[in-house]
Amino acid sequence: MTVKTMEDLFVDTLKDIYYAEKHILKSLPAMVKKAGDKKLKDALETHRKETEGQVDRLEQIFKLMDVPARGKKCDAIEGILTEAKEHMNEIEDPQVLDAGMIGSAQAVEHYEITRYGTLIAWAKQLGHDDAVKLLESNLKEEKHADQLLTEIAESTVNKKAA
Ligand SMILES: [Fe+2]
Ligand SMILES: [Fe+2]
Repeated sequence: MTVKTMEDLFVDTLKDIYYAEKHILKSLPAMVKKAGDKKLKDALETHRKETEGQVDRLEQIFKLMDVPARGKKCDAIEGILTEAKEHMNEIEDPQVLDAGMIGSAQAVEHYEITRYGTLIAWAKQLGHDDAVKLLESNLKEEKHADQLLTEIAESTVNKKAA
């Protein structure tokens, strides 16, 4: 699709995050499986479930916008997830692996946070109030997940790894 208007740009970016969320959803089970620390495993599994809900909310927004829910390849998330996979394959020490996975997961969260922040600002400007609410719900979960990962890293995982 050609982006001509702000409305087009909003939909185009919605497709980007939709693609990203679906890709994240596919990658999370492997991370849950590999996580050694119990708190980390639980946090990743909780966020996997949250991500299913996020995909759902995005589909609701597509419906509101009256456009088919379709992703657009997002090279940024592919790169972040490829690096995450490389870490998972390369790091042998399970405790260092946990620390590495938290780093990767936080890179994902920060990507999502920046995307949702932008989408919310644009949706507000365009008067898509229902979309704003749904996007804010997703953003809240991403921020919470990011915070939780920081806590897990600082309280236990980094110490054990070091
Ligand atoms: Fe997400
Ligand atoms: Fe997330």
